Amino acid sequence: MFFERPESGENTVLVHISIDSDTGREDPLEFEELAISAGALPVAFISGARRQPSPNHFVGSGKLEEIAIAVRSHKAQLVLFNHTLSPSQERNLEKALQCRVLDRTGLILDIFAQRARSYEGKLQVELAQLKHLSSRLKRGWTHLDRQKGGIGLRGAGEKQLELDQRMIRQRIKALNKGLSKVRSQREQGRRSRDRAEIPTISLVGYTNAGKSTLFNKLTNEDTYVADQLFATLDSTLRRVELPNFGAAILADTVGFIGNLPHQLVEAFRATLEETSSADLLLHVIDYSNEEQDSYVGKVNEVLTEIGAVSIPQLQVFNKIDLISDFKPKIDYDKFGVPTKVWISAYRGLGLDILRKAMAEALAGTIAKESIRLSPDLMRLRSQLYAKGFVEAERIDDMGFYHLKVRLPNRELDRVTQQGAVIEIAPKVLAKRTNDSIAAEKVRSAQ
Ligand code: GTP
Repeated sequence: MFFERPESGENTVLVHISIDSDTGREDPLEFEELAISAGALPVAFISGARRQPSPNHFVGSGKLEEIAIAVRSHKAQLVLFNHTLSPSQERNLEKALQCRVLDRTGLILDIFAQRARSYEGKLQVELAQLKHLSSRLKRGWTHLDRQKGGIGLRGAGEKQLELDQRMIRQRIKALNKGLSKVRSQREQGRRSRDRAEIPTISLVGYTNAGKSTLFNKLTNEDTYVADQLFATLDSTLRRVELPNFGAAILADTVGFIGNLPHQLVEAFRATLEETSSADLLLHVIDYSNEEQDSYVGKVNEVLTEIGAVSIPQLQVFNKIDLISDFKPKIDYDKFGVPTKVWISAYRGLGLDILRKAMAEALAGTIAKESIRLSPDLMRLRSQLYAKGFVEAERIDDMGFYHLKVRLPNRELDRVTQQGAVIEIAPKVLAKRTNDSIAAEKVRSAQ
């Protein structure tokens, strides 16, 4: 790969400075976990406080000396900062410490590079890494021998720099081309799914919560043949069959991390679109982790950033096998819609009740309605047809269209905002489901 990456066991000094204006934003505990999951071996943790970062080295001269001593005494190969550093700060630090320096964005990019699963995700990470890197290449790397730089980044000097920049530009061009191809394929896939009325469920969650384990457990009994449409497009989309509901598409996503740097959210917007256009989110939470509440908050922050916070969520508390005598269970809200499920993906505990909860939650997200369109809403009518939402149609003497539609609730909101009028009581399907859940509960209580 084109990039420097902390290899497993690389001795690393961690630096976390509390900045007055930034209190509470960058969590030191999370930082250590991130460093470890990137494969670093923390040998020292240096903390401090400053009113504001120093323009040259981010830290002051005293702190810089403290870091330098830690680097020398632990023979560290890497210094990680829990902050975003400017290219010149990073350069100055490397010069002063005679050691590789990586900032928070670089660290998170590195983790994303390891974790991205889809082809598109991998392309996006590489593109974001190259952009991050090229801003740091501006004045060359003569101050430090890039022993671990990899292809095109070894050695130093102007000639090498020009070569590096040209290679990076070419690679960025190739990546952008690849990405636009995958995106248009993905768009086509999504349109076909819309037409086939297959709802999408997106797995979200903090890194290491167990999303992939759950994804595999929920999908491996299903034949892959049915997935041909998506197979070439993105290996992280698979079809699942849900009891009393039918087919749904399950989408796995890259793990979320707190304080995702803004440029990364931008870079991943396309991949995260799968999440922001989902009908239901399965929010996987590591129930055995004491930090779970703060992680849930961090995931919701990212969901807000990508415009997905209003999508119905089913919280899946995973890893209950690590808590003695804890049995799988579901929690319902007062309307009988499932909101929380406790399972163990790894041990396969509670998967049946999870499937049932997914079906019930999805049923609540789909509306079946009769709507009326005035003759001037022809565009809206053809959009409804193009998306495959129309089940039947009748025109009256006045030229009004009466359509029977089946569509996600959020689409229904959009359609009514554009002038469609609902003719019978809304949420019939959801209500029926809630009634049947209530009946089921009564039966099981008897
Ligand atoms: P990212 O790729 O970082 O987003 O992680 P992820 O959320 O996809 O988590 P993944 O499925 O890779 O699981 C993380 C770790 O948790 C692995 O070591 C799993 O074996 C473990 N794990 C997942 N589910 C369970 C569970 O139910 N119980 C236990 N004990 N471990 C689990």
